[in-house]
Amino acid sequence: MSISKAASSNSAQTIIERLQIEHLLSSKPSPNQLIDGSDVIKGLTHIPKSLPARYFYDDRGSELFEQICELPEYYLTRTETTILQKCAIEIAGITNVCEIVELGSGSSTKTRILLDAYNQLGYPLRYIPIDVSAGILETSARQLLADYDSLQVHALASTYELALRQLIPTQLPSRMICFIGSSLGNLNPQECDVFFSQIISALQEGEYFLLGIDLQKQKHLLEAAYNDSQGVTAAFNLNMLEHLNWRFQGNFDTAQFEHWAFYNETQHQIEMHLQSLRSQTIQLRALDLTVHFERGETILTEISRKFDLNTMQQELSSRGLKPLQVWTDPNNWFGLLLCQLQPLTSVTVAA
Ligand code: AVI
Repeated sequence: MSISKAASSNSAQTIIERLQIEHLLSSKPSPNQLIDGSDVIKGLTHIPKSLPARYFYDDRGSELFEQICELPEYYLTRTETTILQKCAIEIAGITNVCEIVELGSGSSTKTRILLDAYNQLGYPLRYIPIDVSAGILETSARQLLADYDSLQVHALASTYELALRQLIPTQLPSRMICFIGSSLGNLNPQECDVFFSQIISALQEGEYFLLGIDLQKQKHLLEAAYNDSQGVTAAFNLNMLEHLNWRFQGNFDTAQFEHWAFYNETQHQIEMHLQSLRSQTIQLRALDLTVHFERGETILTEISRKFDLNTMQQELSSRGLKPLQVWTDPNNWFGLLLCQLQPLTSVTVAA
């Protein structure tokens, strides 16, 4: 593990003193270990083909995702923001003084709503953003520190798994891990299972977990959100191929693939695919990989699960993460759950 103070400048001295960035990935033998491409080989040689959603997020992909969040059809960000604006003071009132840990913090835009609430109640502000991109972490941490005089930021450039295993000791009486934006929906049920266990291991009894989830709703609303009229989601999906070309010396021609997203009503999930427009063969030279596509063949690039609020509450409770309070919007499109880790003895074990 290496700890670095962000590059200094005299005028920003107070910001520097309040910012710590820890690179958890750099202690590993190869900083590239997470992107050695074995997951790409596995996905593209499997039938049906798939690719891990994390390849969406190169610089261009992150930019496109920010644009998706602003789209009129993509109600998720807007709706969750409105809910947070309404309940942030209530959340702070329930948790009391508490440090905020955020998984996949990105630009930390929604976090400001929480920080404002804790600030308003006169609580000390300590924020632990976790993101694989050290660049995004530093940029958004600096903006936050410039805006909140008393804020302390201890950023972790890391995957969720690693950061949850190596969370630094809490400096405030309690801790709240936030996983908002419905990123839980991008995990399949098995991954979700592992993720909840990791959250539980990272919390002490009595500490908090704030979860934002997109809820089941009419097919046409869901499909519009992932097939926007400006084509930003299509560009986001196709950009994954550009990312692979760059990273693994590939020759995907994005003009020969098409974005395809639909709601699978049985699985309650949006499925995003890239469909080959013709029979073609591509190479990823750095992976020594040649892949053939039939015309019409697809690559699954993402699932985005849509949840039932009652089922999720039961699931969390059965794991000992008791929902203390649940908030939704007037349409019941999105849910925000504040849970508290219960003592082990109070957890109901399913028969
Ligand atoms: C990051 N995640 C919650 C987004 C979603 O809605 O599942 C990713 C996304 N994919 C297409 N549009 C947005």
